[in-house]
Amino acid sequence: MDTLAQRETWLAAIAGAHDAAQLAAVETHLFGPKGVVLELVRSVTSLPKEQRPAFGKAANAVKQEVEAALAAQREAFAQQALARELGAADFDPTEPGPRRARGALHPITIVQNELVDLFTSLGFQWQDGPEVESEYFNFDALNIPADHPARESQDTFWLEPHAGLGKNLLRTHTSPVQVRTLQRAVAQGFEPPLKVIVPGRCFRSETVDKSHEHTFYQMEGLVVDRVRGEHGVSTANLIHTMKTCLRVILERDVQVRLRPGFFPFVEPGFELDVNCPFCKGQGCSVCKQSGWIEILPCGMVHPNVLQKGGLDPEQFTGFAFGMGLQRVVMLRYGIDDIRQFMGGDLRFLQQFPEVAR
Ligand code: DAH
Repeated sequence: MDTLAQRETWLAAIAGAHDAAQLAAVETHLFGPKGVVLELVRSVTSLPKEQRPAFGKAANAVKQEVEAALAAQREAFAQQALARELGAADFDPTEPGPRRARGALHPITIVQNELVDLFTSLGFQWQDGPEVESEYFNFDALNIPADHPARESQDTFWLEPHAGLGKNLLRTHTSPVQVRTLQRAVAQGFEPPLKVIVPGRCFRSETVDKSHEHTFYQMEGLVVDRVRGEHGVSTANLIHTMKTCLRVILERDVQVRLRPGFFPFVEPGFELDVNCPFCKGQGCSVCKQSGWIEILPCGMVHPNVLQKGGLDPEQFTGFAFGMGLQRVVMLRYGIDDIRQFMGGDLRFLQQFPEVAR
């Protein structure tokens, strides 16, 4: 058998295949069940013994060469097919993809996130409370008895009473979470200090105008610690915490001043003012020419509130504050109408940075 001649024929058949299908047919002819290459290799057994080693070696070399030629040709056809596919799809990998509009965070969310980050870095914990609240936690436990004029200043949305549960309402502030938190902490074996913030939505039956909304956001803060020696949590601690907070949120150094303010659940109570960031205290329309903006009601936790929370006011003191988030956001971004927040005007909302976290 002339191995050399057959080798040439086989290699020519491989090279002559026009496509993958023809190549597959050639492959069956060569290596299939009755493949001629395999027959050649097997034919060694029919030779006289002394010829076998030389023939076997030559036949195997041919087999390997033909296999390699087949593989190379198969690969070439595969490459061609891929190139054809890419060309047909008319696909330009350098073209920028379609731009999808991304949502933006609401400005109140942006500022709330920053405040939460700040306070948690100072060791505060985030505390939630119900928006549907009981009259007890919203008023009574906060030292606001039924006939107290403070109830009238907070026009309340009352809800249908549930059997046996007393009157419910939409919370008018985040302060009810103060006593809820104290009671829970005491039930769990109070380990002072307690430092919590309570961001949340509040509701009042207000006539809506430039500076009033029926639905608004507050962030309550509460710090309580044991009195050690002569010292407990003090007004100095309160002022320092508030200054730090306002400096971060208004992105500038701030001056603050305290005026007496009346809230039944703190004693003494304060209105904390910040020097007007718009006119730097010179007097402008935003601060009504006073140079100061009222921003943060706060005070030292009233002994009755500590008691309602289950703590002995002789042993514990604390401070609390209730920040109106809209007000802070308005100062931060120079927004002059509170109705913008709930107005749903996309032109307003789109001015705030895209989602970045
Ligand atoms: N809850 C009060 C309000 O909405 C604000 C407030 C005042 C909260 C003094 C406090 C505080 O924690 O100490 O009108």
